[in-house]
Amino acid sequence: MRLALVTGGAGFIGSHIVDALLQEGWRVRVLDDFSTGRRANLAHVGKEIEILEGDVRDAAVCRRAVAGAEVVFHQAAIPSVPRSVADPVGTHAVNLTGTVQMLTEARQAGVRRFVFASSSAIYGNDPELPKRETMRPAPLSPYAAQKLAGEYYLRVFQELQGIETVALRYFNVFGPRQDPASEYAAVIPKFITRMLAGTPPTIFGDGRQTRDFIYVGEVARANLLAAAAPAAAGRVINIAGGRRLDLLDLAATINEVLGARLEPVFAPPQPGDVRDSVADISQARAVLGFEPRLSFADGLRATVAWYRQARAAGG
Ligand SMILES: NC(=O)c1ccc[n+]([C@@H]2O[C@H](COP(=O)([O-])OP(=O)(O)OC[C@H]3O[C@@H](n4cnc5c(N)ncnc54)[C@H](O)[C@@H]3O)[C@@H](O)[C@H]2O)c1
Repeated sequence: MRLALVTGGAGFIGSHIVDALLQEGWRVRVLDDFSTGRRANLAHVGKEIEILEGDVRDAAVCRRAVAGAEVVFHQAAIPSVPRSVADPVGTHAVNLTGTVQMLTEARQAGVRRFVFASSSAIYGNDPELPKRETMRPAPLSPYAAQKLAGEYYLRVFQELQGIETVALRYFNVFGPRQDPASEYAAVIPKFITRMLAGTPPTIFGDGRQTRDFIYVGEVARANLLAAAAPAAAGRVINIAGGRRLDLLDLAATINEVLGARLEPVFAPPQPGDVRDSVADISQARAVLGFEPRLSFADGLRATVAWYRQARAAGG
């Protein structure tokens, strides 16, 4: 059986990649330090996978993790812009040095392909829309700079060392298992958890700022396509829904799904917030054969159902 390594596999996106791999008959190993990842995210597949608790900054751990793997899905990171601003050195060590460490060990172990979780943050605040992979990157935070440098390292390793690499620039991912509690929580889990408790969501600014949301199951599917598509090697590819949605519409859709009528509360805009974001996903279509299948409302329904259940279970 083919073996895949998922770093950060106990996290939100990584655990969904684990699910998709198991469904396609892969053997799966997870490397995670459980800093933000949770054992509960893997409880349903516990016996089917191998879990290594360890740090991507540790060469010996990375070596053990990649042994025998055909593909690495590198999700492990400190995925937070504000944390990277507060701690550029610490986040650099995990997000960039950790990536170079994983690449080095993967190459030495003969891994065929390395798929990297990059981010739409690298586009910065350039007003040009939609975002295309050929645009000049304009990182505005240490986090974005670390992801961009990671992409460059992938390219260098493919050129110099022959390992196939693919960087996927995720836009705003949402779905079950996304942490609503962290102070850096994303907008959808924040809105849903507040609104499930009957509290109106808070919008920073006028609510007309837009995002390109994509359901986590679709991101997992894109990762599997990126591991297989021959033409993907050496590429950087946007992964998104390819549609813009503003925060007022988001709150309205959650109200609809909940059968509620909670009017948002407005607060001053947050400095450094990107105004608009939407992806051109023609590369994902052409190179990966990727097409988002689930409607936004259906993704939201599945997500709300999960938060409801987690709430009922006291989680
Ligand atoms: N969620 C999004 O919308 C989004 C958007 C763009 C990019 N990304 C990227 O996708 C990836 C997954 O993000 P997520 O939203 O699932 O976050 P997450 O925090 O749920 O997952 C990250 C995982 O990495 C693990 N980890 C952190 N530091 C580690 C270390 N030093 N060694 C080993 N494991 C470590 C954590 O325990 C966690 O399980 C990240 O690389 C993130 O930067 C996420």
